[in-house]
Amino acid sequence: MSGGPKVGTVLVTGCAGFVGSHLCERLLYAGEQVIGIDAFKPNYGRWVKERNLSFLRDHPNFTFLEQDLLNCDLHGLLQGVDVVYHQAALPGVRTSWGHQFVEYVDQNILVTQKLLDAAKDVSLQKIVYASSSSVYGGVTGPVDEEGPTRPISPYGVTKLSAEQLCQLYAYNFGVPVVSLRYFTVFGPRQRPDMAIHRFIYAVLHDVPITVYGNGEQTRDFTFVDDAVDANLTAAATSRWGTVFNIGGGCRASVNELIQLIEQYTGKRAIRQYVPEQPGDPKDTWADVRKARLQLGYTPKFDLEKGVYLQVQDMRLLYRC
Ligand code: UGA
Repeated sequence: MSGGPKVGTVLVTGCAGFVGSHLCERLLYAGEQVIGIDAFKPNYGRWVKERNLSFLRDHPNFTFLEQDLLNCDLHGLLQGVDVVYHQAALPGVRTSWGHQFVEYVDQNILVTQKLLDAAKDVSLQKIVYASSSSVYGGVTGPVDEEGPTRPISPYGVTKLSAEQLCQLYAYNFGVPVVSLRYFTVFGPRQRPDMAIHRFIYAVLHDVPITVYGNGEQTRDFTFVDDAVDANLTAAATSRWGTVFNIGGGCRASVNELIQLIEQYTGKRAIRQYVPEQPGDPKDTWADVRKARLQLGYTPKFDLEKGVYLQVQDMRLLYRC
């Protein structure tokens, strides 16, 4: 579904990020007025986010605000806004342990609560919240939205808490929010800390790939354009107070992924196997029947095409 809601003004939080920047581009293309906000967190790789923004900055319908949602005037920000796409978060499953957790709580839970609280006082068409497959934890086999949510990483706990806040603000105050549980999104502009980005970088630069565990763990990889489609249809649907799995249907193991990267870069990977990481689920597998039925969601990109496109983008990014 590539259309979009016909609305006037939208707010995209995390607009300089991977999914956020693609979403803004699509919204601008559809003629929307887009207000983008980003705090450049985590603060590594600012230049990568600046590059993401460069695709948007000059557009006459795009307004950029460099602000932290934790301490900005959210009531003011929501004035005149029809739809909020809440993509901003502190991402990363394996980095959410220890002293870093407090920032995950701030950026993922507190920010979402503040946004929802401000939203209850204004008239919005929709808030689309970017949730995560990490709410499911270590389940085996396909998962649907009714299945148990038992995160195994602190990050997953924060995404689930924020998702539950969305549900209770919908229930108590009628805030029209829909949550999308993304399954390992990939494609051009993927975050530098994520596996496919790290692997392509390593292969292009002839440095070793670090594989956690035996590399047989699988992910239901989701191409970024499909995640963007899901956001647009979630904004347009009359349904709210609900949750959808957004998986790409491209399940593959980390070892299979590395083979594909070798194929599309034409280079051999140097693999270094290290112990599996705490918080990392063995497998993820989305049952997307609900999204298909209720949002018309049909992923269009397979892993081969998506990895090919990501390799091309990374050759431009790193000039190699
Ligand atoms: C990703 C995102 O980073 C999360 O923000 C998001 O919420 C989550 O997807 C999701 O599905 O919701 P993850 O699946 O860990 O989390 O994504 P990657 O970082 O791309 O890792 C994929 C797999 O590659 C994992 O099994 C990981 O153990 C493995 N990996 C990653 C390595 O073997 N080596 C690395 O250097 C990085």
